[in-house]
Amino acid sequence: MTSDLSIAVLLSGSGRTLVNLAASIGDGRLPRGTRITAVIASKACLGCDRARELGIEPRVMPGVIAPDQLESAVNGARFIVLAGYLKLIRVPAAYRHRIVNIHPALLPSFGGHGMYGHHVHEAVLHHGCKVSGCTVHLVDDEYDRGPILAQRTCPVREDDTPDTLAARVFAEECIAYPAALSALLTGRVRVSPDGRRATIAGAR
Ligand code: GRF
Repeated sequence: MTSDLSIAVLLSGSGRTLVNLAASIGDGRLPRGTRITAVIASKACLGCDRARELGIEPRVMPGVIAPDQLESAVNGARFIVLAGYLKLIRVPAAYRHRIVNIHPALLPSFGGHGMYGHHVHEAVLHHGCKVSGCTVHLVDDEYDRGPILAQRTCPVREDDTPDTLAARVFAEECIAYPAALSALLTGRVRVSPDGRRATIAGAR
């Protein structure tokens, strides 16, 4: 029996994460058999054009998707990957521990409602942080709160602007997301009984 490695990608922005995921399927960073079967955008955006370039017709759904609508919205994809998606997801039981997000900072700092894009990097610079990075986490019913799967760090430089820092963080995202998603797709993620901590079998 082959396992179902279908993923739906949800986005609201420029779609670089979607492109990285598609490239990761092509070059083997994601498991053989991984397929992006749906792209949902919360608005018409560059990410929709990127999806079409990949041969996937995106579906624009502007509102918050109700939990009981999620499975049909993603055409039954087994996993849901948030890629700069700005709407709150409320996780139905069927998708518990099968939805992932990437955030461009080291959670639990600099996350939550309103903390996205340049707002995150501006806050990191405002606080004089010496390192930043990215966090891949399972999604629960709050923004940026679910159990952490992986983090990667990068330095913050004194002359950084939000844009230069964002670019350095994004380079780490391109490594972290396929690696953590691969662990999820291959069944190597375990979540503690209290739902707070995730571990990846075999991760150092
Ligand atoms: C990424 O920085 C990601 O961390 C955050 O949203 C951004 C998406 O960028 N969740 P893009 O729309 O994929 O270019």
